[in-house]
Amino acid sequence: MTSSSATNTRDWETLEKQAKILHETTLRKLFADQPGRASDMTFDVGPLRVDLSKNLIDEQTFRVLTGMARDMGLEEYRAAMFEGQHVNVTEDRASLHTALRIPVDGEMTVDGQDIAADVHEVLGRMRDFARALRSGAWQGISKHTIKNVVNLGIGGSDLGPSMASKALRPYQTAGITPHFISNVDPTDLHAKLDGLDPESTLFVIASKSFTTSETLANAHAAKRWLIKELELLGVPTETEEEIRAITEKHFVAVSTNEEKVREFGIDPANMFGFWDWVGGRYSVDSAVGLTLMASIGPQDFMEFLEGFHAVDDHFRTEPLEMNVPVMMGLLGVWYTNFFDAESHAVLPYNQDLARFPAYLQQLTMESNGKSVRLDGSPVDLKTGEIYWGEAGTNGQHAFFQLLHQGTHLIPADFIGFVNSHNETLSADGETSMHDMLMSNFFAQTRVLAFGKTAEELREEGVDEKLIPHKVMPGNRPSTTILAEKLRPHTLGALIALYEHITFVQGVMWGINSFDQWGVELGKKQANDLLASVQGKETSDAGDSSTDSLIAHYRSLREQ
Ligand code: F6P
Repeated sequence: MTSSSATNTRDWETLEKQAKILHETTLRKLFADQPGRASDMTFDVGPLRVDLSKNLIDEQTFRVLTGMARDMGLEEYRAAMFEGQHVNVTEDRASLHTALRIPVDGEMTVDGQDIAADVHEVLGRMRDFARALRSGAWQGISKHTIKNVVNLGIGGSDLGPSMASKALRPYQTAGITPHFISNVDPTDLHAKLDGLDPESTLFVIASKSFTTSETLANAHAAKRWLIKELELLGVPTETEEEIRAITEKHFVAVSTNEEKVREFGIDPANMFGFWDWVGGRYSVDSAVGLTLMASIGPQDFMEFLEGFHAVDDHFRTEPLEMNVPVMMGLLGVWYTNFFDAESHAVLPYNQDLARFPAYLQQLTMESNGKSVRLDGSPVDLKTGEIYWGEAGTNGQHAFFQLLHQGTHLIPADFIGFVNSHNETLSADGETSMHDMLMSNFFAQTRVLAFGKTAEELREEGVDEKLIPHKVMPGNRPSTTILAEKLRPHTLGALIALYEHITFVQGVMWGINSFDQWGVELGKKQANDLLASVQGKETSDAGDSSTDSLIAHYRSLREQ
């Protein structure tokens, strides 16, 4: 990546001029001027059809943006990432999540290590384990087959597998229900364990570091719960040997830290490893996906990986001008830096994708929420989009008013599917509910783009007083992503698409998308404050606000 900011490229000024022109124009005009606009700006990437035409951009601007991307070294940096160079400079690591989905006959050697073989060795062990669970060969301590797999992890060790398990709910074929406990709020643990049968429950402790306090607290609490519940059922739980036998049958680990896994009492034979070159938020396709694999089965998990790989190939090989993650990444830069957009809505028209926006929040905001460049100097431009969203049509009845008529420009990605896993008829007994959902999907992007003018309202006979309130300004940009059905392959492709969008933006902003130093201080201070929060010492946080809040907390604390 070049050491210079994008603002110093020759293209930056041109883009500022282009932005002025595009601020003045309308999507109606852009479509009128370019009759083939929809087909010119629609691309296929793996199973995804992506229509970029309803964005506030023209071909010339795209050309300048891709030129700027070249000047910023995007092609070299992309190659460096795929080759396993240490693109994560502050941690001196490769960022090789793309290696996690290399096909079995693929090759990848980094620093003399055959990592394609390593990846497939772990995948093989995950497959054996998932098959044993699903066939009933793996049983709990009292010979019950496993029906509930509870993932204990947070951040990247939770959001990926929990989002994907929900998204692929129709593929849960073997009677194994996945559950996810992440928050250190004990409410999460209690609500999820409530009603679970301990004899048929297995816990997956997912933590790359195996030091994350939330996950360790939940893992120990879950172990205590399990032992207590089994004891009530008459399972012997007194000796160390008995506890070890229970732990062996009911706990496995996903981690890079074998020593800590052993300390918890898990046999390393029941540990599924990954590597420091897999960032937490890029890890759903590593062993972190174990709970997902257990519930949907190895074959569908492999199809999930193939979806990622299809988009990796596209991203790696297509010229920037035809490269969908590149274009989508550049659009985000365009709106952030030239239209002053603050946020980016992701609107999946599929209830099973309801957690996709939350998943993207970690992927994009932990990656690109940075204000210094790779060399540590301050950035001189705005970075990082604020991702948020909600499944359609619920969002329409909540925040879409602001999208349509508010004063913020919020580019939105609409994600929809041609077919549903749950075909159902509507009130008239004839209309497909899925078709209703999708007409909303198509209507919303249309209204956002083209709006309704005062003249059109007048022609409809709308009361003059109401016209200003009813005018729909239009020119609200959106990207439409349409796929045939939400299958494992489709989901893998969607995730990889956003991983690469995030990467492109990181390069354009000159930042490191692969570290997350900003979350460390809060963790440390929480640790430091624990003794005063517990009342073991008087709070001396160094600021009067924190001290008095903790004193108030202590005064009302029930125990
Ligand atoms: O909150 C920061 C973070 O390090 C994330 O990047 C990561 O996904 C999460 O914590 C969990 O970390 P681990 O998998 O090591 O428990």
